[in-house]
Amino acid sequence: MAYSERHATLPDFSTGALADDAPAAVHEAVSTGSLPDVERITALLESAHARYRDLDTGKVADYIPSLGNADPALFGLSVCGVVGRSTSVGDAAYPFSIQSISKVFVFALVCHALGHSEVSRLVGVNNTGLPFNSVMALELSDGDPRNPLVNAGAMTTTGLVPGTTSDAKWAFIRDGLSRFAGHPLDVDEAVYESEAATNQRNMAIARLLESYGRMQFDPIQTTDVYTKQCSLLVTTADLAVMAATLANGGVNPITGEKVVDASVSRDTLAVMATSGLYEFSGDWLFEVGVPGKSGVSGGIITVAPGKGGLGTFSPRLDAAGNSVRGQRAARYLSHALGLDVFASKAFDPQAG
Ligand code: DON
Repeated sequence: MAYSERHATLPDFSTGALADDAPAAVHEAVSTGSLPDVERITALLESAHARYRDLDTGKVADYIPSLGNADPALFGLSVCGVVGRSTSVGDAAYPFSIQSISKVFVFALVCHALGHSEVSRLVGVNNTGLPFNSVMALELSDGDPRNPLVNAGAMTTTGLVPGTTSDAKWAFIRDGLSRFAGHPLDVDEAVYESEAATNQRNMAIARLLESYGRMQFDPIQTTDVYTKQCSLLVTTADLAVMAATLANGGVNPITGEKVVDASVSRDTLAVMATSGLYEFSGDWLFEVGVPGKSGVSGGIITVAPGKGGLGTFSPRLDAAGNSVRGQRAARYLSHALGLDVFASKAFDPQAG
């Protein structure tokens, strides 16, 4: 029996007991502990790099033609702590397009502008269990995009960005992502033009959202702004700072600027935990134990709340579009640096 017949509808997550509620309380308790010193972090980054440098499984994405030119040997790792210290190994200064990792930061900026309940109502926070560019997911949910990290939800979110013109929305996004990074970010024009010439599927998803009354702005202009946001150039050093900003209650630890509220950072990390690595988000959380987000050019951010952020880059991807070496390095480093939010040791009554 075909998948669509077995699953004629998906459960209506928007009617769950927690869906409409405002947060029960402000988040007074926060994640505790700190990263090891920078020498130790650098040694562990070097060790992760050496461990996975020769791993050559996975495939470079080529459905966006210019991404197919990426050198599969590139491999960069960076960490930035909430105290503002950064360290990197490998190709950490190599610029690449941010792709889907942009969805996290645009969502955070929209959450900051519209609020927790509104984005949860309009975009959703639940995993689709289907590929990031699935049309079927949207049909099975009667046009509910489900979460901001699949293309449907990301374009819904981009349509909600403040501003009445696509130029105004684009300026807001570029400025906001630059504040997460701590310096102005530029567009990779070749990647933008390559994706803009081949993004008929995203335009179709945006039109489908419009047909369900879910698109708050012109669908074709929204797709174009979304394509531009995906083409912004970053390095792993930038990604680590952007991730560390989310780990640090929305304050960039390098510039000291508050980019979004602490509650927005927290909401963004929650949705990364459910959906950051698409249909492999469960595997990621089980293995790595902290929120993450991947991009199809090969980047991944990993966020340890209250501690810091990890940025990785390696272009070969698994079947869901997540960097293979990036995931391995994140798992290794999460365990070695003590990032996993689910790991605990028994309380020692002798120690008090
Ligand atoms: O819309 C797209 O298909 C790309 N601009 C972004 C997809 C992506 O990065 C998926 N990530 N793993």
